Amino acid sequence: MPRTAFAPCTTVLVVHMWRSSLTDEAFHVRCLMLAVAFMTVCAQKSYVFIDIRNRQDQQNYPVTQDSVPDAYAKDIAGVLLSQQDILHGLSAVSARINQDVQSLSNSQGIVLVTVLHGAMIFSADLMRRLYFPFQTDSVAVSSYEGIQSTGSYQVKKEIGHSIFGKDVIVVEDIVDTGGTLDFLIRHIEAKNPASLRTVALLDKVDRRKQQFAHIKADYTCFVIPDVFVIGYGLDYIGHYRGLPFVAVKKD
Ligand code: XMP
Ligand code: MG
Repeated sequence: MPRTAFAPCTTVLVVHMWRSSLTDEAFHVRCLMLAVAFMTVCAQKSYVFIDIRNRQDQQNYPVTQDSVPDAYAKDIAGVLLSQQDILHGLSAVSARINQDVQSLSNSQGIVLVTVLHGAMIFSADLMRRLYFPFQTDSVAVSSYEGIQSTGSYQVKKEIGHSIFGKDVIVVEDIVDTGGTLDFLIRHIEAKNPASLRTVALLDKVDRRKQQFAHIKADYTCFVIPDVFVIGYGLDYIGHYRGLPFVAVKKD
C-alpha cells in the first residue's frame, strides 16, 4: 500500500470502530458536538490576509511614485507593499471585521481605538470600510527610540471615552517583539470592555520575543520579513509617515 494511503485508511478505521461502539443517537450527538467545537476553534482563529515573507518579487519594487521627495527616495531600499497591495489587505481585513461584528448582539457600543501615531493612516483607511456604528478614540504608548524598543512601556495619551462594557477594536500599525500589543491588551482589559479585538497592518513574527510568543493580532493584513519599514504611517524619528506605500528603510 502506498504510504500516502495510510492516513485516510487509519482515519476510516478509527471512525468505523468509534461508530460501531455507539448507538445511532449517541453517534449523532457526538458528531454535532465535534462540528460545534471545530466551528468554534475556526471562528476564534486569528486572521492573516497574506504572509509576504517569501514573495521574491516584493522585496525590490523600485520607487516609481512621483510624489516621493528626493530626500526620502534616497533613504528607501525598496517598496515592500505597494498602494495596490495595501488596498487588497484593507479590503480583506475589513470584510472579515464587518462579518465578525455581526455576532455582537446587544452591544453597548463599539469603540475603535487607533494607536498613535503609526496606525493613523491605516486606521483612517480601515474605518471607511467598516459598515457598523462606532465611536473613535486613540491611545499613544511609547517604547521606541529610533529603531530600538526600550522594552518599557508607558501610556503617553490615554483613551478619552469610557470603554467599560463596550466592544473595543484596537488598530495597530505593526506587531514586532509583541511588547506593545501585550501592554495595550492588559491596559485595555483592565478597563473592563465587553470585548476586545485587535487589528494590525503588519506583523514581523520572526522578531517576536519568547515571552510574547502568544501575542498576535486577531486580524493582520501582512506578515512581513524582519526589516525596518517606513511609510503609510510608519516613521523613523517622525519622518516618512506620509509615503503612500510601505518601504524598507536603507541602513
Ligand atoms: P513591539 O516591539 O512592541 O513594537 O511589538 C511595536 C511598535 O514598535 C514600532 N515599530 C516600528 N515602527 N517601523 C516603524 O516605523 C518598524 O519596522 C517598526 N517595528 C516596530 C511601532 O510603533 C509599533 O507600534
Ligand atoms: Mg513608530
